[in-house]
Amino acid sequence: MGKILVVGSSNTDMVVKSGQIPRPGETVLGGQFFSFAGGKGANQAVAAAKLGGEVTFLAKLGADELGKNALLGFEKVGIDTSSIWIDESAHSGVALILVDEHGENCISVASGANNKITGQDLLNAKSKIEESSFILTQLEIPMEAVSILAEMAEEVNVPLILNPAPAQHLTDQLLKRIFLITPNETEAEMLTGIQVTDEFSAFAAAEILKEKGVKNVIITMGSKGAFFLNEEGNGLIPGEKVKAVDTTGAGDTFNGALIIALSEGLDLPQAIKFANKAAAISVTKMGAQDSQPFRDQL
Ligand code: RIB
Repeated sequence: MGKILVVGSSNTDMVVKSGQIPRPGETVLGGQFFSFAGGKGANQAVAAAKLGGEVTFLAKLGADELGKNALLGFEKVGIDTSSIWIDESAHSGVALILVDEHGENCISVASGANNKITGQDLLNAKSKIEESSFILTQLEIPMEAVSILAEMAEEVNVPLILNPAPAQHLTDQLLKRIFLITPNETEAEMLTGIQVTDEFSAFAAAEILKEKGVKNVIITMGSKGAFFLNEEGNGLIPGEKVKAVDTTGAGDTFNGALIIALSEGLDLPQAIKFANKAAAISVTKMGAQDSQPFRDQL
C-alpha cells in the first residue's frame, strides 16, 4: 500500500441532537449537545488512518484551542501533520450541526483558516504530492487550491480523487484531471442537471461526467448504496442495512475507506463494498470521526 495525501478542511463540529430540525424562525427544546472533531478533509484523513493507511493531511488551522485539539486528534491516529499550517489571521473551522431523531442533519460552516489554503501551500508540499500513490480532496477549501492541486497531480501522474462536497460548479478543465469523482445524489444533480433517484438516473448522470473526461465515477446514494461507472463496467453496489443514529460524515468515511481499498489494489466494485461497510458502521454512533471504524471492526 502506498502513501496517501488528503488535502482539505478541518472543523470542530458543535452538534445538537433533538427530535426534529427546526424550521427557520422555530426553536426546538430538549436537545443533547456534543462537540466533535470534524471537517470533510479531516474526516476523510482520519477514516483512512484508522483503517491502516499511511496518511499525510494538508490543512490549515487557526492559532486557537480548537486548532490545537484538532492537531492532537490527527497525531493520535498516526497522521503525518508536517503539512498542517497555522494561520494567525483566522479562527479554526467550526461547523454548527443539527441532527434529528432519524440521524439526518443540516450543517452550517464557518470556514476560517480552511479558506486560507493557497496554491503556494500546495507548491510547498510538492514532494508530498509526488510521493503519494493517491490524493483525495473535497470542496471545503478554496476552488483555486483544488484546481492547482489537480494540475500538480496530473503533472506527476498521481491519481486524484475528488469528493465534490459541498456541491459547487466545476469547470470541464478540472473534471478532465480527475481520476475518480464521488458525488452524492444532490452533488451529482448539481454537476449534471440530472435528478438522481435510482440506478437508471445514476447511470445517466455518471455518463455525463465520464463524457467530460472523468475516468471513474461513483455516485453515493445513501442507504441504497453506491453506483459506479468506468471503462470496465457499471452497476449499483447495495449499501449495508443499519439503524442510523447520526449520518454526519458518512460520505467522508466512505471516501477515506475507498482510498485505502484502492491503494491496496482492489477494483472499484470491491473498493465500494469495503467503503460501504465502513460508512455503515460510522452512522451507528454520534460524531463524524469518533464513529469511524478501525480495521479490525470491519
Ligand atoms: O461531511 C461532514 C462534515 O461537514 C462535518 O464534520 C462538518 O464539519 C462539515 O464540514
